[in-house]
Amino acid sequence: MILGIETSCDETAAAVVTRDGEIVSNVVASQAELHARFGGVVPEVASRRHLELIAPVIEEALDGHEVDTVAVTSRPGLIGALLVGVSAAKALAWARRLPLVPVDHLHGHVASLYLKPLDRQPPFTCLLASGGHTMLLDVQERGGYRVLGTTLDDAAGEAFDKGARLLGLGYPGGREIDLLARQGDPTAYDFPVARVPGLDFSFSGLKTALLYTVRDLPPDELAARRADLAASYQRAIVRALVERVEATGAARVAVVGGVAANSELRASLPDAALAPLALCTDNAAMIASAARYAEHVPYPDYLSLDARPSA
Ligand code: KG4
Ligand code: ZN
Repeated sequence: MILGIETSCDETAAAVVTRDGEIVSNVVASQAELHARFGGVVPEVASRRHLELIAPVIEEALDGHEVDTVAVTSRPGLIGALLVGVSAAKALAWARRLPLVPVDHLHGHVASLYLKPLDRQPPFTCLLASGGHTMLLDVQERGGYRVLGTTLDDAAGEAFDKGARLLGLGYPGGREIDLLARQGDPTAYDFPVARVPGLDFSFSGLKTALLYTVRDLPPDELAARRADLAASYQRAIVRALVERVEATGAARVAVVGGVAANSELRASLPDAALAPLALCTDNAAMIASAARYAEHVPYPDYLSLDARPSA
């Protein structure tokens, strides 16, 4: 059994997963409320909160289960936040003389597809859309992937979060827009979908278009049109993502990451393998899952393991 630990952003998470991908426990303590009043994640506030939560979250996930390996997100992410998880993982592995597996957070998102009951087998083309990344990946085996395209500016989740902020909605914004959009008309506003060469993405123009539209609306009308704006904005993001997936021509498609929780995106890709809702946003079960296909570092070499902010 593998203990997974995830602290790269604002979720403090720990999980226990078996070698064959069964989830034994999956604990996620979200800090979203703590950061909501700032309209986004404040890195130093996140680090301090991780420090308070990490021990009880790990304890709850372990719940008496014997584990033989510790896995932890070591990159990419907020450096102070990552360090809390990496330090906890080192201490735990050292105390029990267990091997440690450093995991790439993005590989973790892809590995959310390898957990049971989904247990998706490569090859497939994977859309990874989260708050920090938007990528198309060619996945030939469970140990890795090749990047086919990436965003040139904002990530899709970032576009949702920034859009929600412009509309005066809460943080994190993806879910807020998703809910409000259900009451709006997606054809009310024609927001541009950026077309960049190849399989890359661009979302900054869309955000600017929303900014100008909101700025030009009288305040009382903004309140009345908020749902239409949310629906039209969401439609543009989803269209950009789906168009790129279709441009790959891939027959087997999978979607992972926080934005994979979006109801319109899920409905727009009916034939794709979609990460289960609970495993779309950050969690540690996906990190333990990725560790099944990654190299472990033996004791005591991992004591010098570092967290890295970039991939
Ligand atoms: O994967 P994730 O939890 O963290 C990163 O690795 O970044 O993704 C978080 C992102 C946020 O931007 C959030 O707004 C977005 O996922 N998100 C959604 C939905 N739920 C979460 N975006 C659109 N629709 C949703 N239902
Ligand atoms: Zn993530």
